[in-house]
Amino acid sequence: MKVKDGILTSKLCRPTSFGVVNNTWRIFTYKELHAATNGFSDDNKLGEGGFGSVYWGRTSDGLQIAVKKLKAMNSKAEMEFAVEVEVLGRVRHKNLLGLRGYCVGDDQRLIVYDYMPNLSLLSHLHGQFAVDVQLNWQRRMNIAIGSAEGILYLHREVTPHIIHRDIKASNVLLNSEFEPLVADFGFAKLIPEGVSHMTTRVKGTLGYLAPEYAMWGKVSESCDVYSFGILLLELVTGRKPIEKLPGGLKRTITEWAEPLIAKGKLRDLVDPKLRGNFDENQVKQAINVAALCVQSEAEKRPNMKEVVNLLKGFEYEEKKVTVTRIDSIKYDEELLALDQLSDKDHDDATASYGVFSAIEVQKMKDPYKRMG
Ligand SMILES: Nc1ncnc2c1ncn2[C@@H]1O[C@H](COP(=O)(O)OP(=O)(O)O)[C@@H](O)[C@H]1O
Ligand SMILES: [Mg+2]
Repeated sequence: MKVKDGILTSKLCRPTSFGVVNNTWRIFTYKELHAATNGFSDDNKLGEGGFGSVYWGRTSDGLQIAVKKLKAMNSKAEMEFAVEVEVLGRVRHKNLLGLRGYCVGDDQRLIVYDYMPNLSLLSHLHGQFAVDVQLNWQRRMNIAIGSAEGILYLHREVTPHIIHRDIKASNVLLNSEFEPLVADFGFAKLIPEGVSHMTTRVKGTLGYLAPEYAMWGKVSESCDVYSFGILLLELVTGRKPIEKLPGGLKRTITEWAEPLIAKGKLRDLVDPKLRGNFDENQVKQAINVAALCVQSEAEKRPNMKEVVNLLKGFEYEEKKVTVTRIDSIKYDEELLALDQLSDKDHDDATASYGVFSAIEVQKMKDPYKRMG
């Protein structure tokens, strides 16, 4: 599989070790996937993203699958497909959604995954399952730690290192046990050895974008750390990364959280849907980790190894859990105007929930008011 744009060219190889993760994959025929998904019927649709639609299906041997089908064939979409298959072929981790197979036809590109019965974290926090409140505090912490471990694997354990670039609630899927699996590698960037950061076009989702990345296209591991910090705040508070206030004003989750953290009102930060059922020390720890992750200076953020350890309750001398303030990011009006709210987004329910869909833009002039 050849991939341009600074991404390494390599051949997909069949996985040789199996371990706990079943990662055998194969090539599917279009006919087979067509039959499995009832002709890509709307009733089978699980979600929609920038790349295309995702359908539920069942293969003739009874395996439940999710099939991502490319919306339109153009070079950008083809690139995303190539990047995703390339990355998927390399990763093997309990918290990363692996590859079950793919299909390449003249004018079709499809990716096959295992079906995740609890869909995305987004659907539980802000979507169709939010009212059921199946995410108790323990599950939320487990989701935070598992996702962090998945990202850590991408950053440190696979060569070349991988930066995900689109960590967000709709890209964290949940299996039947509510174990998290980070998915959607369409924006991922492979980082050659010895390189700490690269400059690229900005891809990702407003609200989760690290400032240095949004402004200068500077992509490094710390961009994922920033996005993870936002995700962590979302898990604790049950709030969206960007909320639409009455009157049309938009507020970021960090702007909302900052005064509460400054006043030490941790209990007021926690999602009221938990009805007070949470571990106060863990809340403190999670908020502190989030505050470390969303610092505007990338060098000050912890790496994912430190994040995992801090979330598991270990402390570091130099990263002592003493953060009492949080950087609050205010987006520039100009940047907010760039965001196109889409109504047809089922799972993301972008319009009604105020969660921004993925954007691809040239570097932004100065997305954050306070930076100039
Ligand atoms: N394996 C899966 N099992 C269940 N739902 C899935 C699966 N893969 C994707 N989805 C649903 O489809 C949505 C879009 O999938 P994603 O891989 O993020 O595609 P995109 O690149 O279009 O954003 C997800 O947010 C989720 O709701
Ligand atoms: Mg997605």
